[in-house]
Amino acid sequence: MSLRIGVLASHGGSNMQAIIDRIEDGSLDASVVLIISNNSRSGAIERAKRHGLPWKHLSGRTHPGTDALDVAVHDALVEAGTDVVVLAGYMKKIGTQTLEAFRGRILNIHPALLPKHGGKGMYGIHPHESVLAAGDAESGATVHVVDEHYDHGPVLRQRTVPVLDGDTPETLQQRVLAEEHVIYAEVLADVVDGKIALPVET
Ligand code: GRF
Repeated sequence: MSLRIGVLASHGGSNMQAIIDRIEDGSLDASVVLIISNNSRSGAIERAKRHGLPWKHLSGRTHPGTDALDVAVHDALVEAGTDVVVLAGYMKKIGTQTLEAFRGRILNIHPALLPKHGGKGMYGIHPHESVLAAGDAESGATVHVVDEHYDHGPVLRQRTVPVLDGDTPETLQQRVLAEEHVIYAEVLADVVDGKIALPVET
């Protein structure tokens, strides 16, 4: 089965790029059917253009009002025939309509070993600051299924990264990001191969 992936991204889109690379080199039997970004100047949109992939800028600005953005995201994903929704550095909370329509089929990647160092506010550099402040010996990357709580649904895969002497949040972030680029595509390959059955119960 060729998996139809819808991506939501707010910033650089390097996780999305890693998935596109695996599709283009033939090692992931999938296609990116839509890229949605709430940020019109995101690297994700630049990458979409570079690869000739369909994209939409949908945000609180293009869709003001309580549920308008949720409805627009939902409708765009459905219209694109999305099998699985991949959050790749998406800074908005997923709305109820989208969550219910794709329940168990929305994945997120988090730059720490959940359940520690997750939740509201744990984005960007903050999880790495939190890991160092806790004195943890290791950090890592987590791919999980999205539910209504931040960084909360069932974990599908983790990959650890040792914390090194002299690490700063930025050096740790870089090493974790390199692992993120590996495991997101691995999880999607497992979905293609039927090793992970979607929807996952949340
Ligand atoms: C990644 O660290 C991801 O785990 C987090 O946001 C960052 C996004 O990076 N959710 P990129 O946009 O994929 O480069």
